[in-house]
Amino acid sequence: MTRYLLVSRSAEYENRLRRLLGARLQTVPGEYLAFGTTEVVGQVQDDPAVALLGPLLSFDESRSIAAALREKNAGLGIIVVREQRSDLEDWVDAMDIQAVLSPEATDTTTLDLVERLDAWLVTAGRAQPYSGDAIASGVEEASTLTFVELAADDDATDGEDALDAEVADESSAVEAWVLPPMDPAVRSEVITVAAPKGGQGKTTMAVNLAVGLAEVAPNSVVIVDADLQFGDVANVLDLQPTRDLADFVRAADDEVQIKTQLVRHSDDFFVVPAPLSPEFADDIDAASLGRLIDQLAKMFRYVIVDTTPGLGEHTITALEHATDGVFVSSLTVASLRALRTEFQLLTELGLIPRNRHIVLNNVEKNTGLIPADATAIIGAEADVVVPRSQGVLLAANAGAPLIHHDPRDSAAKAVRALVQRVDPAAVPTRRRIHRKARQDEPE
Ligand SMILES: Nc1ncnc2c1ncn2[C@@H]1O[C@H](COP(=O)(O)OP(=O)(O)OP(=O)(O)O)[C@@H](O)[C@H]1O
Ligand SMILES: [Mg+2]
Repeated sequence: MTRYLLVSRSAEYENRLRRLLGARLQTVPGEYLAFGTTEVVGQVQDDPAVALLGPLLSFDESRSIAAALREKNAGLGIIVVREQRSDLEDWVDAMDIQAVLSPEATDTTTLDLVERLDAWLVTAGRAQPYSGDAIASGVEEASTLTFVELAADDDATDGEDALDAEVADESSAVEAWVLPPMDPAVRSEVITVAAPKGGQGKTTMAVNLAVGLAEVAPNSVVIVDADLQFGDVANVLDLQPTRDLADFVRAADDEVQIKTQLVRHSDDFFVVPAPLSPEFADDIDAASLGRLIDQLAKMFRYVIVDTTPGLGEHTITALEHATDGVFVSSLTVASLRALRTEFQLLTELGLIPRNRHIVLNNVEKNTGLIPADATAIIGAEADVVVPRSQGVLLAANAGAPLIHHDPRDSAAKAVRALVQRVDPAAVPTRRRIHRKARQDEPE
């Protein structure tokens, strides 16, 4: 007989919990939610003492499962497995949850929390003690001793306090999970640059990433302008393309045709320009864009995708196909809140790319906010802070990428740091700078 229930959309977490809890655990994949809560609850076989909900379940899904399970067993203990703490109170209020557990918590913390809650439920008369033979059929480190000791130590009230403390402890670990640190095992290949609001500096970052990465991987970088209606990558780079994204999408399976259509920039990278006219954008569906990105990833070391502001279908597809997400925001409350909402949504959809980089752009002094405020609002620290600089505008007006136009500019240096996050080898060398300077001299 099982004792614990996990409803989650993460197969990885499911496996981990199964390893920890063994035969005591039954799982219902979150995919059943597509058929409704009733279907999920219908899958639950034994009468669990503790249900773990998440990761990757939304607030509404968790609330509705919690309510349905509690209807069958009012004493059920509920642990929500999720990131974020800012709206934690809403979850606690709406679901009467007993604890929040970071999916990144260590095995010991995870096991300990589940068992402590179990013990408390027994002490509080909300659950029957688990039968011995069932424990024996459980997994190796079932740690019944801990279970019994805790049950003996805690009276119901103390148990509750202990769990409250646990909520506080766990939630501090939670933030780290929202945006996991760079994963060294994942080689950057497709880098999608996104922002919930317009004009934050996506194109500036995307173009300079292409330029910087092309220094270490000449002719192995392509930038795709997937800002379907108003993409201006070609414009910013002073190129006059005759082919556009619609042509590339049509040729997505044909490597030779793609190569012949690409526009080459003198800094040794290629461009797939946005549709030449906004109405051509209608011909490009998100799935085809995804196919093109995959095809380009086979042909190039780096594929950089510039996007439309917000989380439209095409941007979601670009993120889905990305190894890296570069998220750009200005240092304003509205933008930062929008970014947090974007992260929440992407996390729920399981679409945060494995490597992610938060860029605060256009940062000025004396605006009432400092980067640390951004950390508090977003729930994660910015990886790169780019100051507002005249150099960005001068470079844009000259049709030249910032990091080559004025490598000593403060914004250029910050953007260079972003490039080096993606490829640490992209260090500007004297030779490169001199070569560029010579190229840029009038003939
Ligand atoms: N750090 C900076 N300092 C000064 N100006 C900047 C900075 N970053 C970007 N800009 C300027 O802000 C404007 C918007 O930047 P950019 O086009 O890169 O944003 P975007 O997010 O791509 O916008 P859109 O949503 O319209 O595509 C441009 O004129 C750019 O030159
Ligand atoms: Mg843009």
